[in-house]
Amino acid sequence: MRTVYKNIKQLLGASREPVGLLEGSEMGTVSVVDNAFLVVSDGEVENFGDMAGISDADLLDAAVEDCSGMFVFPAFADSHTHIVYAGSREREYEDKIRGLSYVEIAKRGGGILNSADLLRRTSEDDLFEMSLERLMRCVEGGTGAIEIKSGYGLSTESELKMLRVIRRLKESATVAVRSTFLAAHAFPREYAGNHDGYVSLIVNEMLPEVAREGLADFVDVFCDEGFFTVGQTGRILEAAAKYGIRPKIHANELACSGGIQAGVEYKALSVDHLEHTGDEEIAALKGSGTVATVLPGAAFFLGMPYAPARRMIDGGLPVAVASDYNPGSSPSASMKFVLSLASIKMRMSPVEALNAATVNGAYAMGLGDEYGIIMPGRKANFIITKPMPSFAYFGYSYTENLIEKVIVNK
Ligand code: NIG
Ligand code: FE
Repeated sequence: MRTVYKNIKQLLGASREPVGLLEGSEMGTVSVVDNAFLVVSDGEVENFGDMAGISDADLLDAAVEDCSGMFVFPAFADSHTHIVYAGSREREYEDKIRGLSYVEIAKRGGGILNSADLLRRTSEDDLFEMSLERLMRCVEGGTGAIEIKSGYGLSTESELKMLRVIRRLKESATVAVRSTFLAAHAFPREYAGNHDGYVSLIVNEMLPEVAREGLADFVDVFCDEGFFTVGQTGRILEAAAKYGIRPKIHANELACSGGIQAGVEYKALSVDHLEHTGDEEIAALKGSGTVATVLPGAAFFLGMPYAPARRMIDGGLPVAVASDYNPGSSPSASMKFVLSLASIKMRMSPVEALNAATVNGAYAMGLGDEYGIIMPGRKANFIITKPMPSFAYFGYSYTENLIEKVIVNK
């Protein structure tokens, strides 16, 4: 089955060569073909180019779709989500409106522990159905590859249940899924007075089983003030390294916690959140190969400061953006809105935001060789927009549904 998409107003992010992780000023440019065509054959990109150069071979036996006025660019690689959860938390939304902070809600036993209570009572099958539904919403919103974390189980049995749900999503999803083991998301009530005991449970009981069943591509720790210390994070990351599981960690959301430096030390693929990032942290990340992943949806929803993405890019770092889709701090599947926030609130240009959500997002979950660009020979994974005046209009018109179609393959 071959399809030719023709008369595309602008094709962005198409390349005949692989594109490496984009750092600093490299993030500000993207390949653009005006008045373009794109050929897809059996789910793979076959060719692309200027309409003036389209040949009979391109059109042979092909269905033709007219994309006049429309833009085509790579599907989003959403490298940080928590979409496996058992129920929404709008009670806390109301608490926040009344003035309670994220940390205050967590201290009252709400937050992540609230989600853990609910998840423990929910069957694997029900959890799978709810999560698949959310995953479909992500794909409709233009996501073509996604990372999903555990972290609402907080016991061996329930963490494994979450990871098995993610494995089922991997098998049945139309997009590539990467799984991350995040038992170190919060301290469960049973370990309120024995935090190191919970870390021991993760290291001695959970991790060996997760590794034995091959349930996790990555390991994560919420390394931040009031959550896991740098020392506890080190214990978990060292244990994971013995199984060859690389970290992607939550760091510096609530304070300059040392999480970024810990991520760099343990060769994390990415450090994520980063609302509290200063010159020291930027210097630690520079040249480390660790992607700085910012999550503007969480800062927006919690009314917290945004990560200094502009300073990071100006400082030469590779920056990715992700949705952080979760019930507590970012209940939204929309990567389009994330792009708008990245530009409006973090001063990333529309092209920087696109690169952060595609090329760099793919690298931030170990998929940079397969996703993030439109390239002949790779799986066809792209977004076709509704007619728009320019690419910048996509983020500018921030509540308009501008996605006409999402083509995904894995
Ligand atoms: O990335 N910061 C830690 N974890 C999630 C929030 C989880 C929750 O509140 O349920 C985050 O924002
Ligand atoms: Fe998160």
